[in-house]
Amino acid sequence: ASNGGMETEKTLAMIKPDGLRGNYTDRIRRAIVESGFRILKERVVELDEDRASRFYAEHSSKSFFPTLVKYMTSGPVCVMVLEKQNAIADWRAMIGPTDATKAKATHPNSIRAMCGLDSEKNCVHGSDSLQSAQREISFFFEETVWSLSESSHLSQVF
Ligand code: PPS
Repeated sequence: ASNGGMETEKTLAMIKPDGLRGNYTDRIRRAIVESGFRILKERVVELDEDRASRFYAEHSSKSFFPTLVKYMTSGPVCVMVLEKQNAIADWRAMIGPTDATKAKATHPNSIRAMCGLDSEKNCVHGSDSLQSAQREISFFFEETVWSLSESSHLSQVF
């Protein structure tokens, strides 16, 4: 699909449990739109242990995996499909380094500097490659068995 000769790209953005708890969703959404992304889809969901483990499967052997899964199941997350040229790299640049303490020191205008705390509670996620983006978008927007954890009332709360 072309867009005035410019190829667009899609990426998955996620606002993690602490981002929602801290009421950062509106600010993040505004920053996304002001940076030229289109938000094609958005939903608020709660990950259970099985889904969080599958989402982070590539990190299952890491020492931090159990606490990562615990954190990611500690409250609802907001997932979005973002579209623009170079969306994957641009969203990663906008969120800043994984470790939010480092983000505050070296990337003060990044989203993680604004609302992250450390390497675990780092407020947001972004796909790191085209392959991850495709997997992660279908993980949240094409799987059919979400009904138990989908909470339409949450979209109004957050
Ligand atoms: S790695 O080892 O470089 O592949 O990992 P990294 O890309 O830095 O991080 C992958 C995701 O794991 C989360 N993470 C952690 N969670 C809990 N505790 C610790 N110490 C920790 N370190 C990293 C990190 O937030 C990454 O999540 P996403 O959602 O992919 O950004």
